[in-house]
Order: sequence, then structure tokens, then C-alpha cells
Amino acid sequence: MTQSTCHVAIIMDGNGRWAADRGLPRIAGHRKGADAVRRTVEAAPGCGIDVLTLYAFSSDNWRRPPEEVNAIMRLFRIYLEQEVERCAANGVRLSVIGRRDRLPASVVAAIASAEGATRDCGVLHLRLAVDYSSRDEMVRAARACGVSGDWSREALSAGVGPDVDLLIRTSGERRLSDFLLWECAYAEMLFIERRWPEFGARDLEDAVAWFRSRERRFGAIPEPRLAAR
Ligand code: IPE
Ligand code: IPE
Ligand code: MG
Repeated sequence: MTQSTCHVAIIMDGNGRWAADRGLPRIAGHRKGADAVRRTVEAAPGCGIDVLTLYAFSSDNWRRPPEEVNAIMRLFRIYLEQEVERCAANGVRLSVIGRRDRLPASVVAAIASAEGATRDCGVLHLRLAVDYSSRDEMVRAARACGVSGDWSREALSAGVGPDVDLLIRTSGERRLSDFLLWECAYAEMLFIERRWPEFGARDLEDAVAWFRSRERRFGAIPEPRLAAR
């Protein structure tokens, strides 16, 4: 039996704590975190994932010290520049969700170039959430519907993005931190203790296997129980 593909979203948390545990500066954790992104993207198609959304930088993360923010932006630009070729070769379409108007110009240019170079790729859609706030996205999508426009669920869903099947957050916190609030309406949620820099292909495989063992009811009653009524 062929398995259906799924949309997995990951809150990549714990870079700072990974570094602190080792007496390293926080940026060392972010650097290691970029390696974990590469591993995860590589493993995703083999797990039956067709859309992978990664939370890289929230709109609230601007509240961090400028040195850390600058270092994250630099890493993000380097990641885009280094990975674009590999993404294109492996059929990975890369796109970035969130605001662009507050990002450094060099990052905006790297995003445009990566999105353009991978536009036609169809194996995996990798969406990186940068300067992202789910509440802001919902307001934006609602505004796009217009005052007298189409205010249906479908219109709002089309405005924000695809529903999430499996949401993973690393490093022990059990909260969404303004990530994909609308899209996670029926997401299965997995909170794991491992810090993001240590996340690997095996963790992703285990997470998807767990997801596939879940019975998703979407409010209904499962078929066998209906029959046994
Ligand atoms: C996630 O790791 C990466 C970003 C938010 C940019 P953190 O930097 O939040 O790591 P912790 O939570 O402080 O360990
Ligand atoms: C959420 O993590 C944002 C990202 C992982 C990019 P945070 O570490 O910023 O979230 P809080 O502050 O613990 O809720
Ligand atoms: Mg954190």
C-alpha cells in the first residue's frame, strides 16, 4: 500500500541551550542548527514528506540582542547561498514565508535568488519561516479577503498556507510560539526533548512513524465503531 504524503512543520528550538550546555556562545548552537536543517531536508522525501515548514526566526526573535540577530541573519544568508544548488539538484523547491521588509537586503536578495532557482522543483517543498508571526499572517490573509470579499475557511486557508499534518518541537517546550496557528487545527503534535542541533534523520523517521500510527478522526467516529453501534 502506498502511503500518502504529509506536511511536517518543525519548531527548531534549543540551539542556545545546546551551546550553553557545552560552555559555548549561543551562535555556536545556531551554526550546528544549520547542519541539522541540512540533515532534515535530506531525509524528508524518504519519509514521505512533501511539504516541510521550518521555523527559523520568529517576529518576536527581534527582541534578542543585535549581535545574536545579526549572526542568525548571516547564517541564514550563507545557508541559502550554499544550499541552493543542492536543493535544485535534489528537486527541493525552497520558499520563505514571513515578512521581508525588515530583513537585511543581502538576505532578501539571497531569498529571491534561491526561490527563483528552485521554482520548478517538485520532490519536496521546503518552506523556511523567517520574521514569521502566525497572527500577522492571519491578519494579512484576512485583509486580502477584503471588506466585502470571500470570508470562507477555504479563502483564509488559501491565504495562509497548507494544513499541517505533524508538528514537531524540539528541546522540551510545549508551546506554538506564534507558529502556524490556523494550519495546525488538526495537526498531530510531538514535543521531543532533544535539542535542535542534535536532531537527525532517525528522529524524523521516528516522528513520522509515530504520526502514521495515529488515528486521525477530525471530529468523526472511526468506521469500525460506527459499524458496532
Ligand atoms: C531556536 O533556538 C533558534 C531560534 C529561535 C532562532 P533558540 O535560540 O531559541 O534556543 P534556546 O531556546 O535559547 O535554547
Ligand atoms: C520559537 O522559539 C521560534 C523559533 C524556533 C524560530 P523561541 O525560542 O523564540 O520561543 P519561546 O520564546 O521559547 O516561546
Ligand atoms: Mg528557544
